[in-house]
Amino acid sequence: MNIKGLSLNTIPPISIPLRFFLTAPLFGLLAALMIIYYGSDIWASRWNSINLALTHLLTLGFMLMVMIGALYQFIPVMIGQFIPWSKKSAAIIHPLLVTGTLSLTIAFTGAFTGAASDFALFFYSLAFISLLFALSLFAMSLTPLLISKLNDHLIVFLLRILFIVLLLTIGPGLYMLLAYSYPGLGINFRAYTDVHALWGLIGWTVLLIMAVSSQVIPMFYVTAEFSRRYLKLLSMLILMTLLIVSTLKTPYFSSIFSSFRDSSLNNIVYIILSLELIFFSWYTLRLIGQRKRKLADATINFFRLALISLVTSVILWWFFAAGFNNQYGPSAIQFEFTLSLLLIYGLAISAIIGLLQKIVPFLIYLHLQNLSFAHPGSITLVPNMKMVISTKKSNMQFILHLSSLVLLIISVYFPSIVSIAGLAMLVNFGWLWSSLLKGVLIYKSNKVKILAYPEIKLNF
Ligand code: HEM
Repeated sequence: MNIKGLSLNTIPPISIPLRFFLTAPLFGLLAALMIIYYGSDIWASRWNSINLALTHLLTLGFMLMVMIGALYQFIPVMIGQFIPWSKKSAAIIHPLLVTGTLSLTIAFTGAFTGAASDFALFFYSLAFISLLFALSLFAMSLTPLLISKLNDHLIVFLLRILFIVLLLTIGPGLYMLLAYSYPGLGINFRAYTDVHALWGLIGWTVLLIMAVSSQVIPMFYVTAEFSRRYLKLLSMLILMTLLIVSTLKTPYFSSIFSSFRDSSLNNIVYIILSLELIFFSWYTLRLIGQRKRKLADATINFFRLALISLVTSVILWWFFAAGFNNQYGPSAIQFEFTLSLLLIYGLAISAIIGLLQKIVPFLIYLHLQNLSFAHPGSITLVPNMKMVISTKKSNMQFILHLSSLVLLIISVYFPSIVSIAGLAMLVNFGWLWSSLLKGVLIYKSNKVKILAYPEIKLNF
């Protein structure tokens, strides 16, 4: 492992990231249960509100939950400064994010089952208020660091872009939720759905994976560092290309550019975007392939799968755009679901599961090691990372994850197997949760044992 450049004096308390990491798989489990319960209704239409519930269980409940936990952990260690009030803000943001995501799920599901409209309206409003507060507080706690003059660190640059992209995703999301909560306002929110989905699925998801990969891959797999120049340029280019795409999609501009809309300008922009995404995947896969110590490590397969899913979704998108789907059968709905599955479950969730299996054992090791320095003689109680989540467990996790991804995609075309796909997803998230939980239990019991050793005062 390569921990060069990390500031080990500014490690936040382990309870801050762990609460987010342990909660996230529970939302994955809930999503799987929904798939099993609703069966083939899940893939009936993009506009089904259970589908929207499923999307946000995974994007807010799993992806955003892990991202917030990881940022609380990563930022201080990467840039050598604590996030101000992090203990207090994490303690408020976490329950608000849980409440917001659950309320949104209840409201969307209630709307689908035809529950009384007051019931759905109450939960839409609760979701709106909880998510608005949670995300504003999170933004406020990071803003001072992100706008301050920090070292020219790649992660700081990527985080600034990620932050802008997250605002551009969540802003329209909250605006649409406002429309759901207060139908009397007469907001024409459907005009923003595609832009919101585009920023969420391509912008936020891809840049999140870029930021995570740039730190995690060189650190845990001892590859060469990512080129700062490439990643800075690429993230700026993706941001700019998405700005152009969304400008072309907004009602006002789309009428101005209507003569180009379905032709040249659109195609040029989509070709540029595709090249950017393919370049990032190719570059990262190449770095992984060239790593110095080629020890078998199951978790690296999660990053490979993530990048392969991204390339596949780009290819599939062109297949769809070229109209081959009409010629060969599947409908637009099936293509859209396949794309969403590849981007959410294949790209983002694969990389995040890979990340969690590395970062949680690393944090447990680091915190117990620091504790044992102050309690001489207890070093044998510090487990190495493989003792927290074994290679065998990670291998199994990969098999479960890959098979659930494949089954979910097949189930879009053969809805009779939706429940089997949901079951595979349930086992996947269940396995993840139990591995993480077991790691935390090891931490707790070893911490008690280490504290039983006499303490010496460390004076650095
Ligand atoms: C505060 C956070 C968010 C809120 C309040 C929110 C809200 C919404 C709402 C109300 C819709 C339904 C739009 C409609 O009925 O036309 C929607 C759709 C969607 N959202 Fe979000 N969203 C949030 C975050 C995200 C994030 C982070 C992603 C990341 C990928 C995301 C991905 C999507 C997608 C893909 C759709 C379209 C689903 C479809 O068309 O099938 N959302 N969102």
